[in-house]
Amino acid sequence: MHKDEINRRAIRSFVLRQGRLTKGQEHALTTYWADYGIDYNPNAPITFNEARPTILEIGFGMGASFIEMATAAPNSNFLGIEVHRPGVGACLMAAKAAELTNVKVMCHDAVEVLENMIANNSLAKVQIFFPDPWHKARHNKRRIIQPNFVALLKEKLQLNGILHLATDWQPYAEHMLEVLTAAEGFTNLSEQGNYIPRPDDRPLTKFEKRGQNLGHGVWDLQFIKTV
Ligand SMILES: C[S@@+](CC[C@H](N)C(=O)[O-])C[C@H]1O[C@@H](n2cnc3c(N)ncnc32)[C@H](O)[C@@H]1O
Repeated sequence: MHKDEINRRAIRSFVLRQGRLTKGQEHALTTYWADYGIDYNPNAPITFNEARPTILEIGFGMGASFIEMATAAPNSNFLGIEVHRPGVGACLMAAKAAELTNVKVMCHDAVEVLENMIANNSLAKVQIFFPDPWHKARHNKRRIIQPNFVALLKEKLQLNGILHLATDWQPYAEHMLEVLTAAEGFTNLSEQGNYIPRPDDRPLTKFEKRGQNLGHGVWDLQFIKTV
């Protein structure tokens, strides 16, 4: 294995804090996993209904905004990936309550899922809302948005596919802009070459509300794969 790869694998974008499952989340994980869950298996690539666009959300938290978007777009496939089990349980409960048939959920590191289970040129959109900002300088390397990861996303997106990021932490917004602007094959959809107004189809997320209460701003970025 190449040295950079060893380093990248050692540094994950999350620390697993399993937290306690509520009874409802536990019930959802055992009962609805068969309807919505996909187990991590590097030998079993995921197949989607190719007649419809597929949208991938990484780090959906408790899943409320993910489910809201999937409900609003019944003709798209939605794949959500989250490592936090209570969040996955909450998302399954919401998917079932909304009787969705266009949603799949995974509980695993999204980087490994992308590397091993998602076909190249298959995704219409990837959205990552309020990824962990890793505020401290010595932790910045844990931020999920890094040049290698963005190159991986570019491989998985279709031509004209969109990468949508949002954050409430200005230094992370600036880092995202720098990484994406330097990335090959992406064009910024912002007319000013930086951030876009919040799109109407992005619901307020749990972390965004928390940020608002702390007086944080919000920065949305959208890039299109052009090559
Ligand atoms: C700050 S939270 C934001 C949650 C949600 N998007 C929101 O706005 O409310 C970031 C989430 O990303 C998840 N996460 C971080 N790295 C991940 C990875 N590599 N794969 C899957 N989920 C990840 C964390 O578990 C966490 O729930």
